[in-house]
Amino acid sequence: MSPCDRLPLLEDLPDPSGKNVLLRVDFNTPLHQAAGGRWEVEDDYRIRMALPTIEWLVDHGAVVTACSHLGRPNGRPDPRYSLAPVRECLEALAPGVTLLENLRFDPGEEAASPASIDSLVAGQDLFVNDAFGVAHRRHASVIGPPRRLPSAAGRLLAREVEVIGGLLEHPSRPFVAIVGGAKVAGKLGVLKTLAIKAEVLMIGGAMAFTFLAALGHEVGESLVDPEHIGACKELIDLGGRVMVPEDFVVIPVPDEAGDAGSGPGAGDGAGNGSVPAPVAVVGRDIPPGWKGMDIGPKTAQAFADELAGAGTVFWNGPMGAFEDKRFEDGSRVVAEAMARCGGFTVVGGGDSVCALDHFGLGDTVDFVSTGGGAALDLIEYGDLPGLTALRSSPLCSHAGGRA
Ligand code: 3PG
Repeated sequence: MSPCDRLPLLEDLPDPSGKNVLLRVDFNTPLHQAAGGRWEVEDDYRIRMALPTIEWLVDHGAVVTACSHLGRPNGRPDPRYSLAPVRECLEALAPGVTLLENLRFDPGEEAASPASIDSLVAGQDLFVNDAFGVAHRRHASVIGPPRRLPSAAGRLLAREVEVIGGLLEHPSRPFVAIVGGAKVAGKLGVLKTLAIKAEVLMIGGAMAFTFLAALGHEVGESLVDPEHIGACKELIDLGGRVMVPEDFVVIPVPDEAGDAGSGPGAGDGAGNGSVPAPVAVVGRDIPPGWKGMDIGPKTAQAFADELAGAGTVFWNGPMGAFEDKRFEDGSRVVAEAMARCGGFTVVGGGDSVCALDHFGLGDTVDFVSTGGGAALDLIEYGDLPGLTALRSSPLCSHAGGRA
């Protein structure tokens, strides 16, 4: 079954005119402190992406109450996680829509407690879920309301499911997947699916060092997850085309000039401790005292060459610590190759989206997912708790079997 199958859409709802509609959104947006200490929304992407659903509901006469989480306040009210700055931003974009306070101030949200579900749906007539970013969580506001109210997927959720779900069903070939980021542990499942479904799976970021160890190479002081070396080896042996980087940008550890020891690049102009240490480029064996921070130029070029001919691309996770200029080249070469690619390009996950924006290329890809963990879970499992809940909602016209 496709994850889109039998997902109730806005048109499946009973007439929303004059009805109270509870709208679950994911407004978990980055905030920054402006002059005078006021908190402001730094990136309103997730808010803007919810506007088509809000506009549809308002145009159809609904009274909309939106609800969201922000960060992880551990079930306690905490002013640092207040949605007040988001509310201000929403008021400017969609006047007249109410936004409740952070759902995660209530410990019953993450525990999906019946009392929390009751209080959320009290006084509401319909439920719309447009929060793709949290559709992989079994939280009260995600799985609860569809049991009590006629429910539907909003425009954003439906589009995310269509695009991310479609990657696995009918991608234009060749399908090239590129996955980076720090931790391999949470990504093994999705990597396995991609290794099977994609023609090429390219590995970057710090998680590449666990693959390097699996191939029997020296990793120096690089981040390795010893518990998962075996799983990385299995993934390489699956038979798919898994590309592990062939070179790396490395730095002496500790990251201070003069402490480099006798590794690559030592003695080539290191400063006195107040300037950043020099970097070096090495092959697959990283010497003791050195730590990998980015994929090297040969690898970046090889990845870019694969991207050039791709029919579909899925990218999750940066190739290196791109926030530091010394380690940005790998992610930049990949982002530029994505921008040039004539195939259908999809980016999922906060950090790869940040990388794209960092290089000013945010507008060059075909689809930027609002969900990191949710996109990966949808690829790994083919479905999400939030979607199952909507499909099971007994109170919509779709329940009779619209496919
Ligand atoms: C996200 O930013 O990925 C979503 O809002 C989910 O947040 P969570 O990982 O804290 O559940």
